[in-house]
Amino acid sequence: MKLFHAAASPFVRKCLVAAIELGIRDRIELVPAAAHPVNRDANVVARNPLGKIPTLITDDGLVLYDSRVICDYLNSQGNGSLVPRNATERMRVLTRQSLADGVMDAAVLTRYETFARPEALRWNDWITGQLAKVHSGLDALEGEVASYGDRIDLGTIAFACALGYLDFRFASLGWRDARPNTAAWFEWFHGRDSMMETRPA
Ligand code: BEZ
Repeated sequence: MKLFHAAASPFVRKCLVAAIELGIRDRIELVPAAAHPVNRDANVVARNPLGKIPTLITDDGLVLYDSRVICDYLNSQGNGSLVPRNATERMRVLTRQSLADGVMDAAVLTRYETFARPEALRWNDWITGQLAKVHSGLDALEGEVASYGDRIDLGTIAFACALGYLDFRFASLGWRDARPNTAAWFEWFHGRDSMMETRPA
């Protein structure tokens, strides 16, 4: 398999953490890709019309995107442990993944607004609105994280990658303030080999 990759992308990281946890990381070759929202990477656009990463090419030549589809595929290539078989539990985990992806999305859009958009065109209310999504998403996590135990699934992996991205790009946000349960959980999760091996520089 080939994965179009940029180490800074939390969505790419989610796929790699999933592959490591499933024990299939050695089957994936990383292909460096640019992830700018405006200056798209022609190599990626040639395979994924959205030009977004992660994009995965399977050994059969299938082109898969986005990270949820890729993680589902990786789970099927491994032992399937990242998504519960029980229907209710499965929906819980997949919804948790969606919530965490939404936090990542809002954080990445905030990053683009401050990094990629020319200063004169920036809209502070829009940044405030995106960060409000980050905070309410994390508040929901704080309310349930004590029940996660040592669970490793697509929901917990996605949340760990969202928190890792906040530490990477938004250290001054202070997401740990008033979220002691999340902070304690992440302290454990981010020490896992899968997280250490995929830390953005
Ligand atoms: C970043 O540099 O923050 C970034 C890179 C790729 C995708 C999303 C974010």
